[in-house]
Amino acid sequence: MLAINLLPLYELGISLAMPLTPQQLLAYKQQQRPLVMLTAWDFAIASLLDQAGVDIILVGDSLAMVALGYETTLPISLEAMIHHTAAVKRGVKQALVICDLPFLSYQESLSQAIHSAGRILKETGANGVKIEGGYPQVLETVSRLTEIGIPVMGHVGLTPQSVHQLGYRQQGKDPQAAERIRQEAIALEQAGVFAVVLEHIPQPLAAQITQQLTIPTIGIGAGPDCDGQVLVTADLLGLSDKIPPFAQPYAQLREVIGQAIQDFSEDVKHRRFPR
Ligand code: KIV
Repeated sequence: MLAINLLPLYELGISLAMPLTPQQLLAYKQQQRPLVMLTAWDFAIASLLDQAGVDIILVGDSLAMVALGYETTLPISLEAMIHHTAAVKRGVKQALVICDLPFLSYQESLSQAIHSAGRILKETGANGVKIEGGYPQVLETVSRLTEIGIPVMGHVGLTPQSVHQLGYRQQGKDPQAAERIRQEAIALEQAGVFAVVLEHIPQPLAAQITQQLTIPTIGIGAGPDCDGQVLVTADLLGLSDKIPPFAQPYAQLREVIGQAIQDFSEDVKHRRFPR
């Protein structure tokens, strides 16, 4: 008789888990199951997030600031986003990987947007792209990208690519501004986004938008009523030197890493390493 050695699949390095899909996110909203989204910029961080069961891993253009040392997100190129997203994707088996379309990689024309988003999907294996804003040209871009099969996540409220116009202030504080953001979120859903990030807007506005949309909202500095929450992972881990007021560090890795480097340096200087 054939003896079959039934080793657990995980011991063979085989996973039967299917990657998450945008459609599943809709089901999670209907089930009121909160979504967890965090940013990643390299293989190591991405594999830690994925193994911890994070739903969506965003290769946000915030990596320009947290990983590359720029003052804003504006300087990062499409090439750099592709380079980092490919590394992230190599570390992920389960989560949905979304890559930000960086500043000036989609605003010039529809064909520029299709070319940039297409390169991201083809060259990195990412599952979709995120685009900032809800003005008419962005809506047209979203509907064309989704038509050709590229899942798109929206982003309204504080949009860091408009830092020279908006700063990093909370958006939607007066009734007209709040109504504009609400309308943008509705129009993005109609144009075809599968989820929308609500950044740094008042809690009641985020709650109202979340209630009105069928797609999930993912908040950052938008209160607890969104369908999910996102943070920049460097802020969560206490790696950033400047942390936005709404981010809550869950660790102080700057201190931990600094101490490890000092301990190593002392050991080398005193010939205690290698032991
Ligand atoms: O670039 C980024 O990290 C983002 C998040 C703040 C949502 O867009």
